Amino acid sequence: MKPLIVANWKCNPQTLKGAKLLFNSIKRGMKKIRNVEVVICPPFVYLLTSDKRQATKIKLGGQNCFWKGKGPFTGEVSPKQLLNFGCKYVILGHSERRIYFDETDEMINKKIKAAISVKLNPIFCIGETKEEREKGQTQSILKSQIEKGLKKVSKKEIEKITIAYEPAWAIGTGKPCDTEEAQKMSLLIRKMMARKYSLSIAKKLRMIYGGSVNSKNARDYIKEADFQGLLIGGASLDPKEFIKIVKTISA
Ligand code: 13P
Repeated sequence: MKPLIVANWKCNPQTLKGAKLLFNSIKRGMKKIRNVEVVICPPFVYLLTSDKRQATKIKLGGQNCFWKGKGPFTGEVSPKQLLNFGCKYVILGHSERRIYFDETDEMINKKIKAAISVKLNPIFCIGETKEEREKGQTQSILKSQIEKGLKKVSKKEIEKITIAYEPAWAIGTGKPCDTEEAQKMSLLIRKMMARKYSLSIAKKLRMIYGGSVNSKNARDYIKEADFQGLLIGGASLDPKEFIKIVKTISA
């Protein structure tokens, strides 16, 4: 399985010109990259800027979607709309959506199921906050996010899902989870998935890490902590740094 590197641009950049510049710079840097799957998740309004991506292997993803297919849901974007726009992935359950938009595990579960039903691959984010970690609740929080978020997701469907472990305390803080701890967490999540599904499913599961990833620490998560990819925020807005990250992974 190729490592998966996902750029989450979040609510950036502020202009179409800026989005095009960023996309094209990354595209140029990806020309010789073969053994890494690179996905860019721009704000919805910029998805179209990336329609010349065929020349490269860059794939597209949404940062969120609604669980309903169509209808009177002002401001929402459906999984099918993302798919028809050329997206292969959708980020769901990001901690910023859980925190700022009160997304619950139940809502995330509906979104996951809706995405899978149209063959859009969910990148399902889980992770504890600083407070939860300090209170020793990390394990129970992850277990509950997995149980509720993946409720009624079958063994067959789970193959479409990538789990992103993104501890909220590491996001945008410049304080990444250290490799040893990340290794423990990946093992813990895999054990939970083995219990919920099966050992072989847990072994095959693609898990990625996110939270203050940069070109210096990127490789460690994959080589030493049993993650098969990365979910990158801040560093994906700096094309030089992002390209450097992808190159260290592909080397
Ligand atoms: P940073 O890389 O900026 O810490 O953000 C991580 C993230 O939230 C990606 O989804």
